[in-house]
Amino acid sequence: MTTVLYDLADMVATVTINRPDALNALNSDVLADLDAVLDRIRSDQPRAVILTGAGEKSFVAGADISEMASMTVREAQRFSQAGNAVFRRLEALPMPTIAAVNGFALGGGCELALSCDIRLASAKAVFGQPEVGLGITPGFGGTQRLARTVGIGLAKEMIFSGRTIDAERAWSIGLVNAVYEPEELMAAATKLASGIASKAPAAVRAAKAAIGLGIQTDIDSGIGIEATYFASCFETEDQTEGMAAFVEKRKPAPFQDK
Ligand code: COA
Repeated sequence: MTTVLYDLADMVATVTINRPDALNALNSDVLADLDAVLDRIRSDQPRAVILTGAGEKSFVAGADISEMASMTVREAQRFSQAGNAVFRRLEALPMPTIAAVNGFALGGGCELALSCDIRLASAKAVFGQPEVGLGITPGFGGTQRLARTVGIGLAKEMIFSGRTIDAERAWSIGLVNAVYEPEELMAAATKLASGIASKAPAAVRAAKAAIGLGIQTDIDSGIGIEATYFASCFETEDQTEGMAAFVEKRKPAPFQDK
């Protein structure tokens, strides 16, 4: 497995798309390797995941145009389904995921970042869905997740024009949560991931599930979903310890995910 690197330290997994010579463009090998890494994450159960790109220039510069150039309609359908399946698996991981966007996040790169829960960007990052300039539409969820993240009008503008935006603009439209100097990005992502990892894991997972399910339904159903996940946290060791520590005015013991 060389096109996607995996590292696990202090309950935080770091996944690095590793094709720097092609600006980390997503070909079939990368998608297969990313899928395999998702299996590993499901088995290791880190408390948070950081996703980034190798090298200083690019997060992911899109799906691999050389591979797509000669695809038939049937092959394109399969490629889109394969990419979407992997991105959906990433999105559906139970623990929080953070995209540390270190450079170009174009096409499939923007879509990959959108499949993560949180996006942090380097000041050098560039975002866009330039597919219409290649004669195609976004194919790894961009028409769906971009509109859900930044709103329909801005998503349509980005997708119809193919224009790119810089990190500050991405922050101003809510596409990224924060912008850092390039050399500070990974430290910031690790700090956020470690902070998440220090909280009660079942509560964090329940919150992610409640947001993910609730956003797809009406408000009354969503509130019902929240009540179910809220209640599921009770009578756990972590809830007992977390609340006892508050009442006793002390720090809780490290959460054990029990
Ligand atoms: N697919 C395949 N290869 C890609 C790629 C992609 N999406 N993006 C970059 N590469 C490759 C280039 O072909 C080049 O390979 P080479 O050295 O063998 O010629 C290498 O990565 C470096 O890219 P290059 O274009 O030389 O870098 P640059 O700094 O001049 O430009 C970009 C950077 C990101 C602006 C430019 O590479 C680009 O526009 N890429 C395509 C972005 C895109 O349209 N993505 C959506 C795809 S659906």
